[in-house]
Order: sequence, then C-alpha cells, then structure tokens
Amino acid sequence: MKTSSFFISFFLIVITSCAQKRQSIVGVGKEVDPYHFTQTKNLTITHGCVLSAEPLASEVGLAVMKRGGNAFDAMIATQLALAVVYPDAGNIGGGGFTVARTSNDSLIALDYREMAPLKGSRDMYIDSAGNARTDWSQNGHLSVGVPGTVAGLFEEHKYAKLPFAELIQPAIDLAQNGFVLTNGQANSLNENREDFIQYNTKPTAFVKQKKWMKGDTLFQPELAKTLMRIRDFGMKGFYEGETAKLVVAEMQRGKGLISYDDLKSYVCKTRKPVEFDYRGYNVVSMPPSSSGGIILGEMLKMIEPYPMHDYGFQTKQSVQLMIEAERRAYADRAEHLGDPEFWNVPQNILLSDAYNKKRMSDYDSTKASESKNIKAGNVHESNQTTHISIIDDKGNMVAVTTTLNNGYGSKTVVGGAGFFLNDEMDDFSIKPGVPNMFGAVGGDANAIAPGKRMLSSMTPTLVFKNHKPFMVVGTPGGTTITTSVFQSIVNVVDFGMDAKDAVDKPKFHHQWLPDTIYLEKGFNKTTADELQKMGYKLYMYNAIGRTELIKILPDGKFEAAADIRGDDSVSGY
Ligand code: GLY
Repeated sequence: MKTSSFFISFFLIVITSCAQKRQSIVGVGKEVDPYHFTQTKNLTITHGCVLSAEPLASEVGLAVMKRGGNAFDAMIATQLALAVVYPDAGNIGGGGFTVARTSNDSLIALDYREMAPLKGSRDMYIDSAGNARTDWSQNGHLSVGVPGTVAGLFEEHKYAKLPFAELIQPAIDLAQNGFVLTNGQANSLNENREDFIQYNTKPTAFVKQKKWMKGDTLFQPELAKTLMRIRDFGMKGFYEGETAKLVVAEMQRGKGLISYDDLKSYVCKTRKPVEFDYRGYNVVSMPPSSSGGIILGEMLKMIEPYPMHDYGFQTKQSVQLMIEAERRAYADRAEHLGDPEFWNVPQNILLSDAYNKKRMSDYDSTKASESKNIKAGNVHESNQTTHISIIDDKGNMVAVTTTLNNGYGSKTVVGGAGFFLNDEMDDFSIKPGVPNMFGAVGGDANAIAPGKRMLSSMTPTLVFKNHKPFMVVGTPGGTTITTSVFQSIVNVVDFGMDAKDAVDKPKFHHQWLPDTIYLEKGFNKTTADELQKMGYKLYMYNAIGRTELIKILPDGKFEAAADIRGDDSVSGY
C-alpha cells in the first residue's frame, strides 16, 4: 500500500470509529449506550430507582437522576425514551395518568387521557345495519383519540428540576442514531408487519424489505425531528405548527376525525387523587377518567372485613373472596364510571365502607355467584399499555401508566412525524352491552361524546404507612390492570411478601363479564380445582400484567421488582 493511501485508509477508519462511538452514546451527559445494556429484575438500593418496560429507558431515567434530576425529571426522560425504544406502548401519540407525591408531601393526579375528537359522536362506530363496528374502533385512523401524553409531560415538568430540553435529548439521540433491537422487539415488529402496511398511508420506519432480526438497528429520523420540535417549541411543537399539521394531513388521508382545533385545545387535567384506607395503610390512586382508583378502593374495602392473612395466599377462601369482590366492583365500573365532566360519578358512595359491606351481603363462601343477563365478550390478551414506577431520596414518588391501547395502537404512524397514534376510542362503550377489546361492557356513563375522555383501567398507585412512603405500584394489562394492582397490594399487606414475590407470583382476574376467572400460568392447581368444583368457569392465561413495584423498607431502602413477564428492568443507585 502506498503511504498516501495508507493514511487515507487510516483516517477513514478513525473517522468511522469516531462516528460509531458518537452514535453509541445518548443524552446530554452521554451516559447510556444503546448497544450495551443489561436487564435487572430486582434491586435494593438507597438513593433512587426507575422501573420501566425496557432497560434502556430505565437507564436513561437513572442517568438523569444521577445528573441531579429528581423523580419527575427521571419520569419525563424515561417516558420519552420509551416512546422511541418501546413503540408498542411507550408513546407520544397516546395518553395516560400520573399519580405522584412531591418532596413537600403534596399529592398529584394528572389526567392526560385521550379525548374523542370534536367531530366524534355517540354512534360513530354503528354501521347502517345497526352493527357495532369494532374493526373501526380498534384499528386505523377512525380509532384514534386526541393524544394527551405530551401535555402530560409538560405538566409533570412543573415538578422537575432540569430543563425540558435536557430531558428529551436522550430520546432524540435514540431515535436519530438508532438502538439495537432485542429478539422480542424484532418479532413484535415482524408480527405486525401486515397491519403496519394496511393502516398506513406513507412508508414507515417499522417496515423494511426483509424481516427484522435481533441485533438490527431501528432508526426513526422522522420521530427524531418531531421530538426536536417538542424540544424547541414546547407544547406547541406537538399541538400546533408542523407536527399538528402532519397529524391533520394523516387524518385526512385516512378518513380520521382529528382536527387542528382538537389538538390545539387539548389540555392535561389536574384531578384530586382517590384516597382511602386499607388495614391502616393509606392508598392514593387515579380518579376518573380512569376507573382504576375507585375500583381498586371498592375491591380492597370489600375484602377488608375478612381475615385474609388467616385464609392464606391463593387458597380457595382468599381467591374466592377476591374474585367475588372483583365481580361486584367491575359490575359497578360498567354502570357508574365515565369522564367526570360528562357523567356524575358517585365516587364517595362507591368508596364508602357501608356501601362495600352491603355489596358483599350476598357473598356465599360455598359457591360461585353468577354475572347474568349481559352478553359476554372475550378478554383480549394484550398488555400494550406500559407502567413506570420511580422514587428518589428526596421523598418524590411517581407512578405513571400510559398507553396506545392495543399494541402499536391504531397501527397508524403519522406520515412525516414518525409516531404511532392510539386506538383509544375503543375504550368507550361504542354500543351498550358490546364488549370492547378487553371484554369490558358499558352504557351511558361511557358513551362517546365530542371532547369526552374514554374510561380507562389504568391504576398508577402509591401506598403510605403512618404517612410515610410505603409502595409505588402499577402495571399495564387492560382491564386486568386494576385486579393486578389489587393483588400486588394484598400480597404485600396481607401476606407479607417482598417486592419480587408480590410481582412475580401468578395472578388471577375476574371482571364480571365475561363470567370467567382468568388464571395465570403457574397458578396453584389444587385451588383451581376447588374453584371449579364450586361452580367457577376457569380460563388459563399466559401472562397477566407487567407490574413495576417499589416497596420502601423500614430502614428507608428501596426494594424494587421489575416484572419477570417482559423485558422490564430496574436501574437504581
Ligand atoms: N387502554 C386500556 C385502558 O386505558 O384501560
């Protein structure tokens, strides 16, 4: 080789390896490497921890904390990173809820649930023959509610310490420079390939000529540009200007209903958290437009008079009692709960001891009761919501559950803006008695109306003992969310479990209709047989939820458990 060509080659190698190095680190502090990261399921630590569905996102949150951010800073950075590395559910095109406690002991509940477009109407999913069209409410442009996540992030930022631009930068880097796909992520993109083609009007980053393989890099340059607009123009970088115009153009190409006015007028609502006592613990959770906090309160209050500890973990007595509480609470969900600005929710009654005692007056410990008279639906096997639990050593606790609804939501990506839109309209009751994709039924309380928020099951929850932080918990899983949080709390409070067992032990679920108990793989066989003999219909389920739970130990340390059921991971220090 001639000297000159040697030097050219040498410089090219140096330039290439510098470029590769530059691409393998993200964030203002350059602490996270999207090509080398590990999954951690359990940690006991002192200063702070972040639990989320993907290790990279948890690491981004931890890096922000170590740089001086608090739990709210970490939450914002983690949520935005998930929008890139977990496109199934992490999102800017969906919505969610935050329940938090600040270091000065204030409690916060933020509602950034999607809402029906102003052109939406009660019967928009009923065809000319009078049939409910779940195919319209569950996929494509017409299934999309006005997204709320970005408004929620800016509301959360009021409690954070670092500039928003710093918190969004890791997500921008991950979208622009790419990140390496796990086997699960590659399979998931391949499984949805046909839908991505069917429900899109422009080419997307998620479809390529060949199948995705583990180790491939996913680049999302259009999403990076959208995130930059949010970084540079704040809320207006999403709800107005270029991004909003791209959303409206996408809607027009696919006959969706969302308008520029829908986006511009979207606001995150600050709600009063649901608060109630359970066996001396104070539970704080999400009020409507989520059903989560109220239904959780009803179920815990219905079982409180009974000696759960003596009954024992997942014995016939304890499971049957919990199932009957779940049945009654979910019957109330269908009838009484909806967006509080459109429906008078009888929250105080539903959470009162007297009401819940009366509700259990027909409970018979020797046989199954029946959920009659309404058409049954199938519980949809999807976990495509996502939950993040974070705590820091200043006393901030943040629980966020956010979703696109189904995996990849409507499957529609905003052309030129690179992000998936939700299919949250299916969480409305599109016709009385017709089950949504989670098998949940409803009526007037959750009927569609312009500007109304569809009823959710998301249950981000905090628990306190003697006014001190005790637990941060939440999970995805559609209608199984609330029963999973219910069981996680009972596992810790009644059965004295540590965080890992409380999360990992098999779960069960009943939601009134369909009148079936869903048992997770590994559930105690003797108990299952006994329940069947009592008249319960059983259905085996692969996995219920992906719970992220932090328990605060008596010495102040944080015991964290990221669910074994997915890629979920905890980062802490
Ligand atoms: N999309 C699921 C829920 O909000 O409950």
